[in-house]
Amino acid sequence: MKTSQKISTIIVTAIVAVVFLFGHAASAQQAKAKTWPVPDKDKALKASAKADVATGKELWAKHCKSCHGSKGLGDGPKGASLKTFPGDFSSAAFQGSTDGELFFRTDKGRDEMPAYEKKIPDANDRWALVAYMRTFKK
Ligand code: HEC
Repeated sequence: MKTSQKISTIIVTAIVAVVFLFGHAASAQQAKAKTWPVPDKDKALKASAKADVATGKELWAKHCKSCHGSKGLGDGPKGASLKTFPGDFSSAAFQGSTDGELFFRTDKGRDEMPAYEKKIPDANDRWALVAYMRTFKK
């Protein structure tokens, strides 16, 4: 191989590597969720003392874990392929939301986050999910 051929092979290889790495990094990039405002009357709602953590855990495994992960870190098998990062539910920012805010967001959904008002029709079950999400607190 002539030196000029060697050089062009190296350049082509480098370009391919850069394109590959760049494309890869871009596809792995997830948007951070925007703030999600909740109407005041919903925000003030509190989980009832009867909200059952064990029921919440079961429902979480069935409906939520695939995206949010078993500990709510946003690392479920489906989580990484979403355009928006599902969030770190152990964080102070998440845990700083009121019960009513978590309930409202679970009910209504937004974009890739499904609405569960109809999928999980018993409100007590959705409150159980809120109670379960509190267990993710660090
Ligand atoms: C298909 C993937 C997917 C599934 C399944 C899913 N979520 Fe989500 N969830 C998301 C994404 C993505 C967001 C961020 C959405 C946004 O902010 O626009 C989100 C956001 C949330 C939020 C708001 C987070 C915050 O910071 O306040 C709550 C609460 C929530 N999900 C609860 C649940 C519960 C409870 C379930 C199961 C009943 C569930 N999610 C199932 C993808 C999912």
